[in-house]
Amino acid sequence: MTELPVREGNADIPPREVRDWWRDAVVYQIYPRSFADSDGDGLGDLPGIRSRLPYLAQLGVDAIWLSPFYPSPLLDGGYDVIDPRDVDPRLGTVDDLRGIVADSHELGLRVFVDVVPNHFSWEHPWFKAALATAPGSPEWDRFHAVRGKGPEGELPPNNWHSAFGGPAWTPIPGHAGWWYLHLFDTSQPDLNWANREIHEDFQRTLRFWFDLGVDGFRIDVAHSLVKAEGLPDGPVVDEDEVMAGSERGPAWDQPGVHDVWREWRRVADSYDPPRVFVGEAWVATTEAQAAYTRPDELHTTFNFHFLRAFWDATVIRDVIGTSLLTSSAVGAPPTWVLSNHDVWRPVTRFAPWRDAHTMDIATGRRRAVAMSMLSLALPGSAYLYQGEELGLPEVVDLPDEVRQDPTFFRTEGRVKGRDGCRVPIPWSGDAPPYGFTTGTPWLPQPADWAGLTAEAQEADDSSTLALYRRALRVRRESPVLGDGELIWRESGHDDVLAVERPGERPILVLLNTGDGDRAVAVDGEVLLHTGEVSLDPDGALVIAPDTCCWIALA
Ligand code: NOJ
Ligand code: MG
Repeated sequence: MTELPVREGNADIPPREVRDWWRDAVVYQIYPRSFADSDGDGLGDLPGIRSRLPYLAQLGVDAIWLSPFYPSPLLDGGYDVIDPRDVDPRLGTVDDLRGIVADSHELGLRVFVDVVPNHFSWEHPWFKAALATAPGSPEWDRFHAVRGKGPEGELPPNNWHSAFGGPAWTPIPGHAGWWYLHLFDTSQPDLNWANREIHEDFQRTLRFWFDLGVDGFRIDVAHSLVKAEGLPDGPVVDEDEVMAGSERGPAWDQPGVHDVWREWRRVADSYDPPRVFVGEAWVATTEAQAAYTRPDELHTTFNFHFLRAFWDATVIRDVIGTSLLTSSAVGAPPTWVLSNHDVWRPVTRFAPWRDAHTMDIATGRRRAVAMSMLSLALPGSAYLYQGEELGLPEVVDLPDEVRQDPTFFRTEGRVKGRDGCRVPIPWSGDAPPYGFTTGTPWLPQPADWAGLTAEAQEADDSSTLALYRRALRVRRESPVLGDGELIWRESGHDDVLAVERPGERPILVLLNTGDGDRAVAVDGEVLLHTGEVSLDPDGALVIAPDTCCWIALA
């Protein structure tokens, strides 16, 4: 078995033009405040992102998705929007966004931006206007202002929880007995989608960014928006469960929300080329998820069932199988997601505990990278979250004083929250701020990240970054990767997953989740491996534990 030579760098390979680009795009998520800071204020910004686009083209992704950059009090990291058709002055201007779109297109990258339709910030002019009136006014009809229970309305209207902890209702100041709804932070009042004005305003927002040239939207909490008629009590759930994202009950995944997506699809389809959507829907099953990607609704949704899979070949195989089945039933491509700005970074998630206090991060990194390489070989579209290509771990020891996630405050510190995956990216140098800023990063970076910087990894052929570049290059060059078919193969071991991507030059992908070396009889050339591989005396491929390997079959 020989290794194929793989050229470094991916910027020169054109993306495949033979099918709808979004069906198998690799999309790189940028969390703007943590990506790159251009002006030394410690907050990442749009010019910072623009300056790093060549890095992303070189990495070989097909598209970028920017988390919110809209004016915001930042009480939920920008998912609390004051004006959805503008840019926060701390992050730049609408012209900077135009520049990002132009440069991205020049580099062959598509651009998604975020849209947050479930709620506005309490600083949005509409909420301020509502506060200046009494419940029952047209201004309040844009939100959910509801009389409370009890003789004086002194109890919340129902038992709904905020996804960040605590009740989903806050009293309306100056109007005793009245409450407003917020499925997230108090500062994020939910919008009333029974009011046509809301539909019209969001269509304006879609068109504003589409007209400016963005290729698609990532839709925040796409399974929310519409609430069950009468806002009935939901099932009593453990608060931790609410926050883990398993939202169910009358506030989530209501049939009416699908009409909104049909409306939006018509807007996207009215453009040439048509624009696209990826929905964030943390719903209970892959079937419920697939309903969001019926032909006249969203193009894709994030596959969080895959994100939740743990390190076990059978579990991983099951989730891949059901994802493929349910998505193909509606004609949509599946997506593969391991990471985003809301969850622990996979390096740490997959890390086994060495003892009660220490996690084995090196093993976690091997597993996370192996899982990611598996995902990049599966049919459909894949998502990478900034820093995943550098193998960054979760920062678990941020001091409480620097934490910003509303979850931390709403649970009085019981739940630490999501800041640990939002720590600014280490670009270069030996010490914080690692080229992220010339000032002080808005969240502190660990002192031991010198070896993880993009600069250090660019200089090292055996780095995580080099592996991602190689994988994305092979993925682009190979006609069998991306959209298409998958065949399950027998590896001869329960803990070794074997997947073939059939076609003229088929590729076999092996993933060893077992605790030792496994030998697999296979004839071909190794294209890529995340851990040790070798040949045994019989010519079988021996694959080390926690390893993924791509093989061009003979
Ligand atoms: C999902 C977003 O990804 C998360 O960051 C945010 O806090 C909630 N939606 C509320 O907008
Ligand atoms: Mg800045």
